[in-house]
Amino acid sequence: MIYQVYPRSFADADGDGMGDLRGITSRLDHLADLGVDALWMSPFYPSPQHDAGYDVADYRDVDPRFGTLEDFDALVAAAKARGLRVVVDLVPNHTSSDHVWFQEALTAGPGSTKRERYHFRKGLGPDGEQPPNGWQSVFGGPAWTRVPDGEWYLHLFDSSQPDLNWDLPEVRQMFIDVLRFWLDRGVDGFRVDVAHGLIKESGLPDWTEAQVPITSPGAEHRTPPMWDQDGVHDIYREWRRVLDSYEGDRMMVGEAWVSPAERMARYIRPDEMHQAFNFSYLMAPWTATDQRAAIVESIEGVAPVGAVCTWVLSNHDVVRHASRLGFEAGYSTQGGIGVGDAQPDEALGLRRARAATMLMLSLPGSAYLYQGEELGLPEHTTLPDDERQDPTWFRSKHEVRGRDGCRVPVPWEAAAPSFGFGPGSAAWLPQPADWGRFAADAERGVPGSTLSLYTEALRLRRTHQLGRGVLQWGTGEGEDLVDFRNGGIRVITNFGQVPAPLPPGEVLLASGDLAADGSLPPDTTAWIRA
Ligand code: NOJ
Repeated sequence: MIYQVYPRSFADADGDGMGDLRGITSRLDHLADLGVDALWMSPFYPSPQHDAGYDVADYRDVDPRFGTLEDFDALVAAAKARGLRVVVDLVPNHTSSDHVWFQEALTAGPGSTKRERYHFRKGLGPDGEQPPNGWQSVFGGPAWTRVPDGEWYLHLFDSSQPDLNWDLPEVRQMFIDVLRFWLDRGVDGFRVDVAHGLIKESGLPDWTEAQVPITSPGAEHRTPPMWDQDGVHDIYREWRRVLDSYEGDRMMVGEAWVSPAERMARYIRPDEMHQAFNFSYLMAPWTATDQRAAIVESIEGVAPVGAVCTWVLSNHDVVRHASRLGFEAGYSTQGGIGVGDAQPDEALGLRRARAATMLMLSLPGSAYLYQGEELGLPEHTTLPDDERQDPTWFRSKHEVRGRDGCRVPVPWEAAAPSFGFGPGSAAWLPQPADWGRFAADAERGVPGSTLSLYTEALRLRRTHQLGRGVLQWGTGEGEDLVDFRNGGIRVITNFGQVPAPLPPGEVLLASGDLAADGSLPPDTTAWIRA
């Protein structure tokens, strides 16, 4: 069980409105009480924060906004004292444009070796005024920006995130050094950002299709020249050798928006990464058929390489599942929700989110939680547009709302300023005025609260070793039910419109109240002693 901490929004010790490492340390008991095994922290490195820290200017330090290396060491020590492992984020596809390498490349000019660390090219057209090819940025607009001397550089994300040239041994060596730097400081692993993007097809052949890092379910699979190139695997094999040379268990989990499952499995072969995020599961529609298919395909997908399956419902890039699931007619995982958009049904969303989480927590493998979901936190769906900070909002020319709504600071104390996020009254993104309802102190120990549900589900998951289990599909399967056994627990989720009878047996936990006659209401999951 790995809990994602988004440092900007977790807890703010110094009161500047932005979360920090000392804030995280001060709230580690929450994670230990919840019963997770590890925390993964999104980037806290020096950065101009044009993409909330995924634009790293120095890979071997802590941004003063978040604290110091000493604060980091104290955090690791405090985590270990509570039996929590620490995973940090590694951003190898691109640096910040503030990184010394990019600054040197700009100064050194066309043709210089300093430019080889990135993808600089001449433009097309008589004066090179057209980008070198038609690649689009994931955040919208062209993936190329022109510098004053006339050359263009590639950035698959924001223009402040130039893509590195991984064909260069110097780039590879730099990241080996970065891995060692954090491993030496005691980290247990790395979450690898854009793991499918590091190598580009040689010659950068044109690709004019819209740039989404996902092959959506059902879409015809084609490998775009910037994603999932075979060459990335040599990089992870080399990293794996570095990790394995350290004592203890050190791990890597890849963020690779890759499909189909066989391509995905290549990232988690025995000599590469340990895990990869399962975004197909995250995107599976809320129907029994789709959920069952996603579970079966996920488990079958990792089987050939003998890797651990992973599960995730929310993170800092997608609409929180408590809101996503609050739409009757389908939902979007990305793009955000804002004032003027169709708004989710909060009660429906939360009911389904609790059912979805209990379903997820019953599955064998590793599950990832995103801060705040254990409080039932919804997306901030009415964030004023003038508060938005996500580059997606700007690069899409205000067509895509972006990801700010899932990044709003966590409410800890119902009655405190900024709901206990920090001593200051203003957080970097405003929290909805009624979020005291979701504060951790309003839910802790309260029967039926979402925090109590997560805590109990995690306790049972551990006691019954569900993470190490094997699924046996049940007889109650049908259009409306997902029904399986994992060891000593039978799991039933009702996706239908009417209550479903439950088989005999002690109900260990349910995501919502059972009906008066003991049946399982719609959008509810029950764990029954098998
Ligand atoms: C994936 C990260 O999760 C996202 O937040 C970031 O914007 C992109 N990679 C670019 O680094």
